[in-house]
Amino acid sequence: MGSGAPSRLVDLILGGKLDALRHDLPELPELDNLFAPEGPIRDAELLAADAFGAAKTWMLANGSTCGVLASIIACVQWHNSRPGGAPLADAPAGSGGGRKSVVILPRDAHKSAVHALVLSGATPCFLPPIRHPESGVGLGVGTAELKAALKEHGDEVAAVFMVSPTYEGACSDVTSAAEACHGAGVPLVVDEAHGAHLAFLGEAQPPPSRPSEEEEEGREGKEEEEGGRDKQGGSVFASGGTEGDGGGSGGGDDFSIERAVTDALATVQSSSPSYLLLASLDAARWDLAGATKNAKRRLREAALIADGVREELSSVEGINVLDLGGESGSAAGCVGTDPLRLTVSFEGGVGGYEADEILIEDFGVYAELPGPDYVTFVFGPGSTVEHGQRLAEALRHVALPAQKRCAHTPQVGIPALLPGEAITQAALDALAAVKESGGVISGCSDATLATMRVVVDLVPSERR
Ligand SMILES: Cc1ncc(COP(=O)(O)O)c(C=O)c1O
Repeated sequence: MGSGAPSRLVDLILGGKLDALRHDLPELPELDNLFAPEGPIRDAELLAADAFGAAKTWMLANGSTCGVLASIIACVQWHNSRPGGAPLADAPAGSGGGRKSVVILPRDAHKSAVHALVLSGATPCFLPPIRHPESGVGLGVGTAELKAALKEHGDEVAAVFMVSPTYEGACSDVTSAAEACHGAGVPLVVDEAHGAHLAFLGEAQPPPSRPSEEEEEGREGKEEEEGGRDKQGGSVFASGGTEGDGGGSGGGDDFSIERAVTDALATVQSSSPSYLLLASLDAARWDLAGATKNAKRRLREAALIADGVREELSSVEGINVLDLGGESGSAAGCVGTDPLRLTVSFEGGVGGYEADEILIEDFGVYAELPGPDYVTFVFGPGSTVEHGQRLAEALRHVALPAQKRCAHTPQVGIPALLPGEAITQAALDALAAVKESGGVISGCSDATLATMRVVVDLVPSERR
């Protein structure tokens, strides 16, 4: 098996060995079916549910992206299946339409959430992201704003979507959000793409990463995805206060959110999932929660290494180690931070993209995420004290020069402009600043930004 593989792949990537390809098998009877698991995949999902403390786990073969897509689509389908929930498109002509499906989400959610809105036809209710007062880093959603949106949209709300922890490791008050949602009978979807490791950090774990017992009772499901460059494991969980009790256009009497997620995942994932990837998910779960618990120990050690770097840098002139969960962060709604993330900014005008470039070119150090005004680094089970020292040394070096800083600009994966959104001068300035500082802009009709496709012109001609 694998003997016909392209020689370049075997030589350059696999080191001349075919071992990995021998496991790159399709849906053979012995290997189970991701979309109707009854054997090893079902067992792996049950073990993962147990490890994460979830009622149900789905293994995802297409990243957190497909977890986010399926969760939101499922919530909208379930909402439509509830009494009064005929989708607008199916409403008889002239009837004024059926009930809207509103999804409440932060404006700085990952683009997969925006794509889910498009695919599900949901109406967004964007909440302005709370920002860390000094650094401008997004801190997630405030409970007061969330409650106000739930009240405003009433039974039109199909789901609340939030991201916790964020890319930079800021954890929102998920417990309060869950209470608010469950009180309103609305499913809460938490995009935990960056948080699968948190439950295994023991005392280093920030407060909201593991749900309370009451919350676990109300939890509908949890999805796990493949680890990438940027993740320790990764997960998304959909949590709903009530089971769907059927009817409507979405399905029969037993149409639950769980069922809706299963159906939606079948539509957004490859029908031929990579069994190598699936095996890697199970291996990661085994490593974290299995008998030897090596990965758990290594994660805790990594948290200590990160602490050491934080402490060392805190006395270095020109470097600000951002404490997102600190006094000002917590006042703004951040209840904790991922101990394995380190976010720093530089005084004297060195922006995040410039710092990233210096780190790569001069030190071979790759940041997890460069932002316009800061850089975020991630520690993991493979991090060593030497890695931490090398990073601290490189950052000291970056703090030496000073150049002009750019304005707050968009982050990777968070669209600066959405289809249908008014094109403001601020958004244009932000995009131009990204371009100027060496960032890459994707998703626009002209990547040079020399032209733009305007769908509707909202500015009266005399004001242009
Ligand atoms: C918050 C968040 N959600 C979802 C995703 C999508 O994850 P993936 O690229 O693994 O599909 C990302 C990607 O970085 C993310 O940052």
